[in-house]
Parts: sequence; C-alpha cells; structure tokens
Amino acid sequence: MALTSPEKRIWWNEPLSKIELTWIVIAFLWGLTMFGTMVYWHFTGEQNLSNEAYRIRPEVFAERTEAQAEKYKVREEGDTGIPVVKPPAGSDVYMLARRYEFWPILELEKDKQYRLHLSSMDVQHGFSLQPTNINLQIHPGYEMVLTVKPNKTGEYSVVCNEYCGVAHHAMVGRIYVVDSKK
Ligand code: CUA
Repeated sequence: MALTSPEKRIWWNEPLSKIELTWIVIAFLWGLTMFGTMVYWHFTGEQNLSNEAYRIRPEVFAERTEAQAEKYKVREEGDTGIPVVKPPAGSDVYMLARRYEFWPILELEKDKQYRLHLSSMDVQHGFSLQPTNINLQIHPGYEMVLTVKPNKTGEYSVVCNEYCGVAHHAMVGRIYVVDSKK
C-alpha cells in the first residue's frame, strides 16, 4: 500500500518502461518454465506414488485390518505381542494408525505387488517410510490406497511425522520385505 495516492489516478494507462516490461516478460516465461517442469517431473521423476483415497469409517477399517491380521498372522513380536502379518502376494493389505502405534507389522514379498490400505482411527498421523523417502498423511475417515511393489528386502520403519499427541515421538511401525525365493 502506498502512503500517498498516485499523482495520476488512472495509473494503469501510463506507458510502461522498457526495462519493466522486459522483467515482466522474463518473470512470466520463467513461471511457464517452472510450471512445465512440474509436468515433466511428474512423468520422469518417479517420485509420485500411485495413490487413491476413499471415504471409510474407522470401525470398518479396523474390522478389515483385524480380519486380515487374524487370517494371516505368522508370529508375534515384542512385549506387547504385536502380530506380524503376511498376506498373500497381490492382495489388499491393511495397516492402521492410532495413538501411538501402527498396527500390525506387515511382512511383504519382494517384487510382488500389493494394494496397501492406510487409515487412522483417531487423529491425523503421518506415514513416513524409512529409509526410503515416502511420506503421506493418514486421516481418520479416509483410507489411502497405494499400489506398491517393494524392490528391496529389509526392515523398514514407519515413522509418524505429524504431531498427534504426547507420545507422538514414540509412534513407530514396521514393515518387513522378504525374498520368497530364499
Ligand atoms: Cu501419530 Cu504423531
């Protein structure tokens, strides 16, 4: 906002200085370039997850997650006996987020495709898969569905990266990727 009114009230009809016009054109072209980069990077960057989102009630999501855990549990881990669940390759797999855990632990096979469903039971949580650079927001009332094909065996940590309460920092989950041929 200017302190004083412009000398000529119809200032937008005044001729534009060449230098100013040049800069406007440069800025505009640069803006177009940056926009084009987004489109280019979408196709070549391989950083975009193929995800879908659907509305779902937390109870329904919990039911499906528990049913899957009951059916495909292979063992239990830790003091709390959190189940390690290994659903068949190619199937729909469920992991829920709630204060302050990701449940259950999943065991997936390398080079097999899954549809990974994620949702929250209470508040917004983050889903950060380490050591890869995958970051998502997990909301209650919606399920995020990712088509994933793990390409490296190992132990992956799921870290909550949205502040969700006093024990937010302790909210960690796990996904194992194993080689079925071994
Ligand atoms: Cu869940 Cu922070």
